[in-house]
Amino acid sequence: MHGPGDVVHLQQGCSSASSCGAAIIAVTSGKGGVGKTNIAANLSLCMAMENQRVLLLDADMGLGNLDIVLNIQCRYNLMHAVSGVRSLDQVIQVGPAGVEIICGGSGVESLANLNNFQRQRLIEQLQSLQSRCDILLVDTGAGIHSTVIAFCLSADHTLVVTTPEPTAMTDAYAMIKVLAANHYAGRISLLVNMAQNLAEGRKIYRQIADVAGRFLNVAVYEAGILCRDECLVQAVRRREPVVQAFPRSQIAGALAAVSRRLTHTAYERTGEEGFFRKVVDWFF
Ligand SMILES: Nc1ncnc2c1ncn2[C@@H]1O[C@H](COP(=O)(O)OP(=O)(O)O)[C@@H](O)[C@H]1O
Ligand SMILES: [Mg+2]
Repeated sequence: MHGPGDVVHLQQGCSSASSCGAAIIAVTSGKGGVGKTNIAANLSLCMAMENQRVLLLDADMGLGNLDIVLNIQCRYNLMHAVSGVRSLDQVIQVGPAGVEIICGGSGVESLANLNNFQRQRLIEQLQSLQSRCDILLVDTGAGIHSTVIAFCLSADHTLVVTTPEPTAMTDAYAMIKVLAANHYAGRISLLVNMAQNLAEGRKIYRQIADVAGRFLNVAVYEAGILCRDECLVQAVRRREPVVQAFPRSQIAGALAAVSRRLTHTAYERTGEEGFFRKVVDWFF
């Protein structure tokens, strides 16, 4: 186990070639509209600026909108790779700061309906993604659906996003509870977004972490606090990530701090079989 103060560089955790692929971070929430997509998009940029090779996977079925936040055009999505119409390379878009993006679309859903041959081919293709980047960030979408849970359970680190709203907090806790019930082997961190101030954000983090510790016997680490910030709203309107549109804003600084915390965390690999194999296996 690692304490909250541990700072170990990502690469140090590698014990064998197969475990040296990307660290997988799933960005999730119980409730929708809490800021996941903006957080995933902006964190990917911050990480790229820290010289990490980042791949962003939009695994939010139906409501995927990373392309809108990043102002890129997703001509192809994961489904084109699943069906074999396009190669995985053709499905990858390059966004700001060299961040690579794969739009999920209905392809994520199709993962559940593949025959053995298709599954095997896709897993092999997807595994290669894990070796071409340092960090794979997955925007899972909201809610306790099997696909969302599958992506989280397969990740090394799950970043649960909440806001101070009681419904968002309850749903964040429900998500943590499901991870605990499934004996999640990765690390769980909580990010409080749209706080009025840092004190309110910390109080909410502590409330959820305390209850999770007491009733679920699960450690929930503090990923950071993001305050409600008009700059982010304006950036969304401009279809530009806020760290790029307003690099000197308070929220850009806070996002950079969250990014540093994530990239400097040691990841205990949750297995040798690879992220995507686990994701696909969870569907069966
Ligand atoms: N820190 C923040 N300050 C102000 N508004 C925010 C903040 N985070 C998110 N929002 C608002 O919430 C909306 C939804 O965010 P989004 O990232 O799409 O959420 P999700 O992916 O969880 O559904 C944004 O378009 C923005 O208007
Ligand atoms: Mg979203």
